[in-house]
Amino acid sequence: KTIALLTGGTTGEWVVSVKSAATIAHHIDAELYDVYKIMLNDHGWFYEPADSVKIEIDRNDFSLTIEGRRIKFDGVFIAIHGSPGEDGKLQGYFDMLHIPYTTCNALTSAITMNKGYTKAIVNDIDHLYTAKSVQIFKGGNYDINQIKQDLKLPYFVKPNSGGSSIGMTKVKQADELEAALEKAFKEDPQVLIEEFVSGREFSIGVFSAKGVVTVLPTTEVIPANEFFDFEAKYTPGAAEEITPGNMNEEEYERVHEIIKAVYTKLNCRGVVRIDYFLEHETGNFYFIEINTIPGQTATSFIPQQVAAMGITLKEFYTSLLKETIG
Ligand code: DAL
Ligand code: MG
Repeated sequence: KTIALLTGGTTGEWVVSVKSAATIAHHIDAELYDVYKIMLNDHGWFYEPADSVKIEIDRNDFSLTIEGRRIKFDGVFIAIHGSPGEDGKLQGYFDMLHIPYTTCNALTSAITMNKGYTKAIVNDIDHLYTAKSVQIFKGGNYDINQIKQDLKLPYFVKPNSGGSSIGMTKVKQADELEAALEKAFKEDPQVLIEEFVSGREFSIGVFSAKGVVTVLPTTEVIPANEFFDFEAKYTPGAAEEITPGNMNEEEYERVHEIIKAVYTKLNCRGVVRIDYFLEHETGNFYFIEINTIPGQTATSFIPQQVAAMGITLKEFYTSLLKETIG
């Protein structure tokens, strides 16, 4: 089969996307799949067979013409974090062209890219908690003093559709809120202000194959920085990461039930990764967010979790491609 591996994107996460695509390209089974890496960014959509050779994709049918030979793709492996790969835009485009892809569908991608809307949907799952939060719109009609009264410090200010902690601030004193909002609004006209949960932090991959939803071994994150920020996420050694993370039997059972319920309720497809806290005081599960195109860089969790499960990345990507593209 001929596969396009899409990378790049139009957000600050594009650097992460390039690294994820490198891992995927390296481990895809070349005997089963003929892979063309396509860069998609503000300058265009192109295939680069050699330095300074750029061949544009024909966006009418997503085909590529190389020396007069037209290549049409059997499927697309989307490795673009953030827009337009993780927020439903490309999914809608490929649906219209009837080209299968590796990720959740357009609606699920669009909803899950928005942290606030996602919380509203998963909130009624048994044993799942979400931190108290307020969602506000740039230029909208919100009362900043009311927010300061309603939420307990510290809180996180997050671009609602952001990734990799870009534009995010941990606010410890109320007078820091304005500056944090300004920073977040640069990334997104919608911002989430969310109370801090004191707990152990985890991130867990989950995927479906042949009708069975499988939860990967979890990763516990112990950041050395104030929180698990961009630097800690992508600098080897900048956070302690333990895979499989330590959960007792009761936590393990409960977390797996919740994770499967989230995956099913949001109608996910392929591999996604869910970030959560287990609150110190109560042990309660607090949902942070879901990433429908989880990072596949050398320091990302999914490759570590796949290894901890005892399968190779080659086997894992093959199962993902078989499930979604065939
Ligand atoms: N948003 C980054 C890529 C992740 O979730 O891994
Ligand atoms: Mg994320």
